[in-house]
Amino acid sequence: MKIDVFTLFPEWFEWFTAQRHVSNALAAGSRLQAVDIREHTPLSGGQVDDMPFGGGAGMVLRVDVLDSALRARYGVDPVSLREQRRVIALAPAGRLLDEGLVQELAAEPDLTLLCGRYEGFDERIIEHFASDVVSIGRYVLSGGELAAMVLCDAVLRKLPGALGDARSAAEESFSAVLDGQPEYPHYTRPAEYRGWRVPEVLLSGHHARIEQWRRERSRERGDGGEGR
Ligand code: 6GU
Repeated sequence: MKIDVFTLFPEWFEWFTAQRHVSNALAAGSRLQAVDIREHTPLSGGQVDDMPFGGGAGMVLRVDVLDSALRARYGVDPVSLREQRRVIALAPAGRLLDEGLVQELAAEPDLTLLCGRYEGFDERIIEHFASDVVSIGRYVLSGGELAAMVLCDAVLRKLPGALGDARSAAEESFSAVLDGQPEYPHYTRPAEYRGWRVPEVLLSGHHARIEQWRRERSRERGDGGEGR
């Protein structure tokens, strides 16, 4: 998968792509490139944003600037780009990122992510360039970059070769193997610590019983339990 992230802070992604689980996924045949929106601005002084019409606080990412940046990268009118690949604007009011959307995006050959800053995007960017608007939760971050990293982390680890143990991805929380339920609890050594014992069934070596126990615990968590 090839992912381009359009951002005003490309250096943020140097840290992200250097992390081992991300670099492993990339080494397995994917690519994540941060594209500096500012490099492509047609405006003087590297201007990329402007004051909102009608007044109000903050600055808005300009539509003409993003038009130039997308056009420079793909060599097509950005209006038609979204017919070729998912162009995802990251914004707090977008479609909530969940396991279903992650799976959907992991099946795409390429993704383009657009990070707004300040007060966000000129709405015409969303209307004319984006195929999707995605949010990672109902709270406001100061920009789309961290949300883009969350999305990339979740998507990249779905791809073949990203995880040390392929079973981890198949069995993890919310996957189809667990009927879309959250994952069961895990324990490791020591089997007893400060009097807190690991559930006996896990030490029994009884694979069928372990499997059943895990499914029950997973289902309990999915019943809107404690949410821990
Ligand atoms: Cl995608 N962007 C911003 N700025 N804030 C958010 C978000 C995205 N998702 C949750 N909060």
